[in-house]
Amino acid sequence: MSVQPTRLVAALDLGSTKVAAVIAEVQGDQRSGSTRVLGVGVERCHGVRRGVVRGIEETTRAIAKAMKDAERMAGVEVGTVYVGIAGEHVAGQTSTGVVSVTGGEIRTGDVARVNDVAASVPLGRDHELLHAIPQDYRVDAQEGINEPIGMTGLRLDAQVYLVTVLSSVIQNLRKCVEGAGYHVAEFVLEPLAASLAVLTPDERELGCALVELGGGSTNVAIFQGGKIRDTRSLLISSGHVTNDIVHGLQVTQQDAERLKERFGAAWEMLVPESDVIELPSTPGQGARSAHRQVLAHIMRMRLQETFEFALDEVTRAGYHQRLPAGIVLTGGGAQAPGIVELAREVFAMPVRVGKTGQGLAGLTDSVESPRFAVLAGLALYGAKQLRQGASFGSGKRSSQAVEKYLQPVRQWFQDFF
Ligand SMILES: Nc1ncnc2c1ncn2[C@@H]1O[C@H](COP(=O)(O)OP(=O)(O)OP(=O)(O)O)[C@@H](O)[C@H]1O
Ligand SMILES: [Mg+2]
Repeated sequence: MSVQPTRLVAALDLGSTKVAAVIAEVQGDQRSGSTRVLGVGVERCHGVRRGVVRGIEETTRAIAKAMKDAERMAGVEVGTVYVGIAGEHVAGQTSTGVVSVTGGEIRTGDVARVNDVAASVPLGRDHELLHAIPQDYRVDAQEGINEPIGMTGLRLDAQVYLVTVLSSVIQNLRKCVEGAGYHVAEFVLEPLAASLAVLTPDERELGCALVELGGGSTNVAIFQGGKIRDTRSLLISSGHVTNDIVHGLQVTQQDAERLKERFGAAWEMLVPESDVIELPSTPGQGARSAHRQVLAHIMRMRLQETFEFALDEVTRAGYHQRLPAGIVLTGGGAQAPGIVELAREVFAMPVRVGKTGQGLAGLTDSVESPRFAVLAGLALYGAKQLRQGASFGSGKRSSQAVEKYLQPVRQWFQDFF
């Protein structure tokens, strides 16, 4: 095949319901370029729950299968992958630092120094730093500065958003990826990845919340002024909707999933009153049916509660009525008909479903669903790193020595957009 192995990027989304893999070819340079999707693999898996490995063997097997499927579809082999991470074990905190400016004019070195000071907080032995994202700078008395290089001043203050994660969680995820025969290039915060795939620059600038309705958790991430400002994880998820259907309609978990995806809706007003669905039943139950509106009602109640919790988190983060670009929904739950109408009612803000596609070319329809926002975003993140010269994004495995050398660089300050 004509594809150069050094220009390949691979990514893995380890969700509570599935493992998804993508391989893409990176084209162009730092200024412009596209990421061409070559192959995708999806494998059902329950070995990871809310980002935490519960079954090493099942997860390892699912990773190997999803990656092999993606490789077969792409016609190439890869060695390193970007891996998404999210869950309650991921924490965000804002940290500040201050340095005095030598020479009157702020230079790159001063910015690096102040970032370093802001990020030098004790994390505890069991946590590691995942991302350090500069927020705003202050030069003497002038606040809200995005790009301080070249400005005149005596004192430079920085605010940095630090994302930390429990080390044991990372270690177990890494074990699964390595057990499947791949090397982790980098762990990436899932909402950050998803934002690359679905948010427009205007949405990020004006302010919006990305609400990811996953099978195991709901993630709420806030963006404003072009940067991520806050990220939170809720325990309530699409999985709870399934459980409610199990109890409400007396069907198995598997049947509840199927009914939800085939006939479900998040807004019963959208469902014609006359729609009736046949329910799977045991020999003892006999033939059964239910109004589709009943199914939609069960789903609406739980999804409404989920959105109310998400709104509480937005308020707690201090962004209530400060998000003019509103809400962007992703994750499997965002596929339910009527979800936008329901979210509009609860949030009282503009709402849309985040579809992937921007910055991508090739087999984009394979990752088009909001369910693949994280996966597509991870590929875009990896492509960006590769364009900036990250050697471990290549098709070849990087040596331990290279990894060790790159570790501190990775923890440096990333401008995501
Ligand atoms: N059309 C649909 N309507 C409602 N829910 C849906 C639909 N399609 C999929 N889902 C739900 O989406 C969920 C899976 O979403 P997703 O793939 O984003 O989760 P995940 O990444 O595996 O989990 P997590 O990120 O929470 O660990 C399942 O609960 C599934 O029932
Ligand atoms: Mg997910």
